[in-house]
This record gives sequence, C-alpha cells and structure tokens, in this order.
Amino acid sequence: MGYQAHFRVWRGDADAGELRDYQVEVNEGEVVLDVIHRLQATQCPDLAVRWNCKAGKCGSCSAEINGRPRLMCMTRMSVFTEDETVTVTPMRSFPVVRDLVTDVSYNYEKAREIPSFRPPAGLAPGEYRMRQVDVNRSQEFRKCIECFLCQNTCHVIRDHDDNKLSFSGPRYLMRIAELEMHPLDSHGDTGGDRRELAQAEHGLGFCNITKCCTEVCPEHIKITDNALIPLKERVVDRRYDPLFGLFRRRGDR
Ligand code: SF4
Ligand code: F3S
Ligand code: FES
Repeated sequence: MGYQAHFRVWRGDADAGELRDYQVEVNEGEVVLDVIHRLQATQCPDLAVRWNCKAGKCGSCSAEINGRPRLMCMTRMSVFTEDETVTVTPMRSFPVVRDLVTDVSYNYEKAREIPSFRPPAGLAPGEYRMRQVDVNRSQEFRKCIECFLCQNTCHVIRDHDDNKLSFSGPRYLMRIAELEMHPLDSHGDTGGDRRELAQAEHGLGFCNITKCCTEVCPEHIKITDNALIPLKERVVDRRYDPLFGLFRRRGDR
C-alpha cells in the first residue's frame, strides 16, 4: 500500500542553501532513491542528484539520510515509519555543487598520489605467483565501490577541513595497506615498502582507529581491523627494527 511520506531535502549550491519540505508518494518495496526520483519527476525537475546503477555497485548515490551516511539506493523506505520525516542532505565533508551533489575531487587527488603497483623486474604477466591467503586479503579491499562514505564520515576531515591536505582518508590508506601487504609489489627505492609514505605523506598517524569508517562501509569491508591497524603495526615494526634496511625479509610481507 502506498502512502505520502514527509521528505526534507537540502536544496542549494556552494553559496547558500536550505532544507525544504515535500510530501511525496511512497510505494511498497521502494528505496530512498526511488522517492528522490519521484520528487524530480513530479515536483522539482531541477533537483540535482548523482546516481547510476541503483544496485549499490557504482558508489554514486552517497548522501546523509537522517544524518547517517548511506547509499540512497540501498536504504529501504521500510526502515522508516510512515509518519517519520526523512531528511536527505549531501555528504558533509565535501563541497556542495548543487542540492545532493558534492564535489568529490579530493578523493581523486588522493588516489593519484599513490604510486601504482609494480611487479618485480623480470616477471611477466602470467608469471605472478602468490599464496591464496595474500590473494584473499586483496580481494576484500577490492570490493570497494568508491562511494566515499568512509571518507565523508572520518572525523579527521569531517570536523577539520584543513586536515585534507595531509590526510588521505580511510579509503586511500586502505589502498596503501593493500599494496604494502602485496607480496609482489616492488614499487620505488625501498622495494615495495610503503610504510614511510603512509605515515609521512598520507597522514596515517591522524587515524585514531575510531572505526566510524568501517561502520558506514556498504561493502562491509573491515577497513580499520584489516587495513588500518595492520598498516599501523607495520609502521611501528619498521621504526623499532634496528636491522631495517639491511635485511628486509620479503617473505614476511
Ligand atoms: Fe565506500 Fe567502503 Fe570503499 Fe569506503 S571502503 S569508499 S565506504 S566501499
Ligand atoms: Fe577515521 Fe576510520 Fe581511522 S574513521 S580515524 S580512518 S578508523
Ligand atoms: Fe549506484 Fe546507488 S546508484 S550505488
């Protein structure tokens, strides 16, 4: 059975904006994105919203729903009561372009700063050999759909915009962790050691493992436990290893 829901949606641009109230029809089985689309179709054709797959796989429709960072296409209307006001606002940590669309270029810049995977010299594609446990570890991190909800949620930048310069956020620290743990990565002069890079240039030390990033990840990636904490442990190992640089044991990586 359909009903009329009360939606409150943030409307505006980089200069100014406000929450506006709408009554909009909701039908059984719908998600928040369906209702936003109905708003566009019936009442505000100029409402800006970013989406693509409507299946939780493209990472485009990130927003804050009743103050919680969520994918609009994966948030069922059935989680709200019929008389509840549903408030939809843009991600708070990124500059607004218009309405629910934010400028997420911070994330692309941070991605570009991470040197890509480089296999050991002399190894051709097809000759890579890895233990299954190493393959499995990467697989978890590769489920990332780049929705940037973890980036949006982490208090290091959510509450302190200035930190964006020196902190790359959980998604990209996870990427560094993935490469650091990769047994075949041989990037740079240090033969694949990315620990100093993580600490000095990507702000790993800012992370105080509050785990908010992990809580909002729609792919249920254990960002903190499986990427950030192990990366921090590796940084500590490096600092307290007097033989580091002399005998680096690649088999332990
Ligand atoms: Fe989104 Fe999770 Fe990837 Fe962060 S790690 S960008 S929350 S899918
Ligand atoms: Fe931020 Fe996640 Fe660390 S929320 S503080 S990156 S554990
Ligand atoms: Fe693709 Fe929501 S529209 S994740």
